[in-house]
Amino acid sequence: MSRRTLIAGNWKMNMRCESAVALAKGVVAAVGSQPSAEVVLCPPSVYLSKVGEAVAGTPVELGAQNVYAADDGAFTGEVNPSMLTDVGCQFVILGHSERRTLMGETDADVSKKLHAALAGRLVPIVCVGESLEQREGDETEQVIERQINGSLAGLDDVRAAGIVIAYEPIWAIGTGKVASPEQAEEVHAFIRQELSKMFGKEVADQIRIQYGGSVKPGNAKELLGQPNIDGALVGGASLTVEDFSGIIAAV
Ligand code: PGA
Repeated sequence: MSRRTLIAGNWKMNMRCESAVALAKGVVAAVGSQPSAEVVLCPPSVYLSKVGEAVAGTPVELGAQNVYAADDGAFTGEVNPSMLTDVGCQFVILGHSERRTLMGETDADVSKKLHAALAGRLVPIVCVGESLEQREGDETEQVIERQINGSLAGLDDVRAAGIVIAYEPIWAIGTGKVASPEQAEEVHAFIRQELSKMFGKEVADQIRIQYGGSVKPGNAKELLGQPNIDGALVGGASLTVEDFSGIIAAV
């Protein structure tokens, strides 16, 4: 089963419009017309339109960092899936650990967003991952199992095949501490096994599982070389053309 490598840049709450557009143009130029991987940029929501214009007609795709699970209505401050597709998004990151810890997002919230995203024709990138405390307490598999089951609740096999999972150990995010390829592969294989229990092996084999947490040009090759690591969700290193394209080049 071949799964196309997916490299996504999560810009988080960084940059201003001009540098966001410049970075997007730089990535477009660096990846060329036939990139070695599928490439997605996830800028802050206020810059989605501008970045969308910068990548339009190129192989580089656009993703949002969050979405609200409702149709148009009285939801001050929120943005729904059809607004995201309206400005050119194909992807949306869901349940990032920063949203889980800072904004109190639960697996039930992620599940609602997942269904809304899929109904709106967005590809969800569902983030899961354990804290340092949980890893040291030998709870990694339990935590991942709970997050996968909760976040993907109610999902059918047909739609499941098109989603993306991002394994992001919290202790590796923005810390410079990267999971070793073996540590990451072990959890990725566990995630695929869980997906297989939920959706059957054939579907599980189609689902791309990205690794995230201090991915850099220097460690990308080894991580991406693991059998169950199908891409990377990149934070810090997605903020410069050099680092981000270095990671893509490692595919
Ligand atoms: P990082 O962030 O690459 O800066 O560790 C990854 C993420 O949070 O998606």
